[in-house]
Amino acid sequence: MKQLITLNINNQNYDVIVTPMDLLVDVIRKAIGLTGTKKGCGQGDCGACTVLIDGQPKLSCLTLAITCADKKIITIEGIANEDGTLHPIQDAFLDHGAVQCGFCTPGMILSAKALIDRNPNPSQKEIKTAISGNTCRCTGYINIVSAIESYANLVAEKGAK
Ligand code: FES
Ligand code: FES
Repeated sequence: MKQLITLNINNQNYDVIVTPMDLLVDVIRKAIGLTGTKKGCGQGDCGACTVLIDGQPKLSCLTLAITCADKKIITIEGIANEDGTLHPIQDAFLDHGAVQCGFCTPGMILSAKALIDRNPNPSQKEIKTAISGNTCRCTGYINIVSAIESYANLVAEKGAK
């Protein structure tokens, strides 16, 4: 049975009609039109669909939209600054050549941001663990890890978040 729910995404409320089986990734992309969240495997393997739900990285392809009605969801569109300039972690990815095709990048950035939000001084091992569920077919990961380390250093120096 279809149901009207309100999803809070990037601090904005969206009223959407969903069935109990509708996946969050599909609602975010198709019903709401926020296509920064990518759908790769659709079965929990690639991490491309990662969003933050109440600050935790979650796979939106394994999450039913109807379970998110009382949660705060952040997608890649929600982390840029209000004036439209990029978030410092996005700048770090660009500066380190950590983006090639870009398909993994939204999920990768959200997984990394969640790590540094809870642990501003992660070890390289902790960074690798945090992004272990995010597959990148292009970069070989070295530049991605460097970008995340650079952002962590910036947070440590300037308190940027
Ligand atoms: S699309 Fe969700 S993990 Fe691959
Ligand atoms: S940049 Fe292409 S999959 Fe990561």
